Amino acid sequence: MRVYVLNGPNLGRLGTREPEVYGATTYADLVALCESTARELGLDVTVRQTDAEHEMLGWLHEAADEGAAVVLNPAAWSHYSYAVRDACAMLRGPLVEVHISNIHTREEFRHHSVVSAVATGVIAGLGIDGYCLALRHLATLAPGR
Ligand code: DQA
Repeated sequence: MRVYVLNGPNLGRLGTREPEVYGATTYADLVALCESTARELGLDVTVRQTDAEHEMLGWLHEAADEGAAVVLNPAAWSHYSYAVRDACAMLRGPLVEVHISNIHTREEFRHHSVVSAVATGVIAGLGIDGYCLALRHLATLAPGR
């Protein structure tokens, strides 16, 4: 199964960015973890991060065209980007929305994600492990592939 793990703004700074909220794992560690988990599960994964909304939209369009599965941490875009939500609505494969922190226990503006209504499922508050769990779920949809 083809899977894109897409990360939105500021996630490239994982490791140094508010470690008390997001943990000490660096973005490079996250990429390595997703790649090794995907390899173990037999998933064909591409991991990307961008601070530019138009770039994220292009990647979502690519995933839609390929019918690929997506694990998406929309970061701050979760809370206000109807453009990201609309691009997610075009996906034909499953979409797992991941948040490292538990957005529901944080500031009020983080409690709502405009993406969640078009996601297959949402994982929040389980740290970096959320990405691995999302990949494990996707692997169950395509056993043996
Ligand atoms: C986040 C939560 C968002 O509110 C925040 O803007 C992020 C990261 C998370 O992974 O916990 O950048 O999506």
